[in-house]
Amino acid sequence: MKEFHIGTQIYFGESALDRLSELQFESVIILADPFVVTSGLVEHVTKRLDAAHIRYTLFTDIVPDPPVDKVIAGVAAVLKGHYPCMIAVGGGSAIDTAKAVRKFAGQIEEGYSPRLIAIPTTSGTGSEVTSFAVISNPAEGRKYPLRGDDMLPEEAILDEVLVKSVPAAITADTGMDVMTHAIEAYVSTNNNEFSGALAEKSVEICGQFLIRSYSDNNDSHARRKMHIAACLAGIAFNSASLGLVHGMAHQLGAHLHIPHGRSCALLLPSLIEYNSGITTSSRSQAEYPSCVRKYCNMARILGVSNFNEITTVRALISYIHFLSQEMHMPARVSEAVSMTQEEYFSHIEAMAEGALADGCTATNPRVPTKDEIMEIYKNIW
Ligand SMILES: NC(=O)c1ccc[n+]([C@@H]2O[C@H](COP(=O)([O-])OP(=O)(O)OC[C@H]3O[C@@H](n4cnc5c(N)ncnc54)[C@H](O)[C@@H]3O)[C@@H](O)[C@H]2O)c1
Ligand SMILES: [Fe+2]
Repeated sequence: MKEFHIGTQIYFGESALDRLSELQFESVIILADPFVVTSGLVEHVTKRLDAAHIRYTLFTDIVPDPPVDKVIAGVAAVLKGHYPCMIAVGGGSAIDTAKAVRKFAGQIEEGYSPRLIAIPTTSGTGSEVTSFAVISNPAEGRKYPLRGDDMLPEEAILDEVLVKSVPAAITADTGMDVMTHAIEAYVSTNNNEFSGALAEKSVEICGQFLIRSYSDNNDSHARRKMHIAACLAGIAFNSASLGLVHGMAHQLGAHLHIPHGRSCALLLPSLIEYNSGITTSSRSQAEYPSCVRKYCNMARILGVSNFNEITTVRALISYIHFLSQEMHMPARVSEAVSMTQEEYFSHIEAMAEGALADGCTATNPRVPTKDEIMEIYKNIW
């Protein structure tokens, strides 16, 4: 038996943030990315709370790739005020911090379960609608995905006014994260018709609006569409899970501190090649792995389908390279880090072990060996 549900109420479209004026709490805690506060963006939230006479406390001890100690600090802040509602405002890092904070606070004080409202300020992770959070342990150089229905935000508010300030490089990184979520959910061994429909729509929007969104911060239409695409892909992978791109990207983040979406962009073309078994020297085959038909569907949606399966999968791979190039993203790991090849290679074995153990890898359409993963890491240097 399979099940599909969307557990988060989604508010979107013009002035979606007005939802905040309808809240009925006396006090809330806002867990916000520090940029959101220093830039004044948080006022879009606080002015609505003020208007609704809701007191708020700010917690801003949030950093990219949230580490365990910041989660512990958040738990202390939330338990101190015993707030009935938590509002997370920021990118995946702020929302993941809030999700983990609520989970652990509920474990410390049994029965405590504040309402969680997620307000993304990047269009990428889809964290506002997923029951995952990724927490890092810098001491071990590892990232841990946490999962559970108790992590799912009750509400998500998608208002593009909060993403206008996202600089081009972060638009590129987060946009490629969306693209990867949609494609990996689509070919996941756990995919289903519902997740597939959402992944297709998400990829279609990325094809139309990612470069537009990258090129012009003030293109509100493109920004709104990408905000929705991120959320659609989030719902898709929350149901279908992901694959080896994410299993390997989590390691690039933990070991080399490459931003998450940039890691995905570096890996996605190689993983399409690996999963499909189609390389530049492939000849027509009588039978292809089932993910090939799905990659071909994605290529068709992106308008790059070609004569046959081989040329279509090659066209999809070229299209991903094209997107990265247009958005001035690094094409290889060597362009994304400041370290020697020898230093990078010294991480590969541990990264391959981490990727094999990562929960996302379990639903990859092709079961990888440690040697194959190591080879892929070598090839993307
Ligand atoms: N929970 C999930 O389902 C899920 C899925 C994928 C990734 N993740 C995790 O999410 C994290 C990445 O999240 P992210 O890509 O959204 O980045 P992020 O939250 O780490 O933010 C990246 C940078 O963008 C800045 N920023 C955020 N909003 C901004 C705005 N409106 N204007 C200008 N700058 C802004 C932040 O200050 C930060 O410096 C990683 O830890 C990743 O592992 C979680
Ligand atoms: Fe991701």
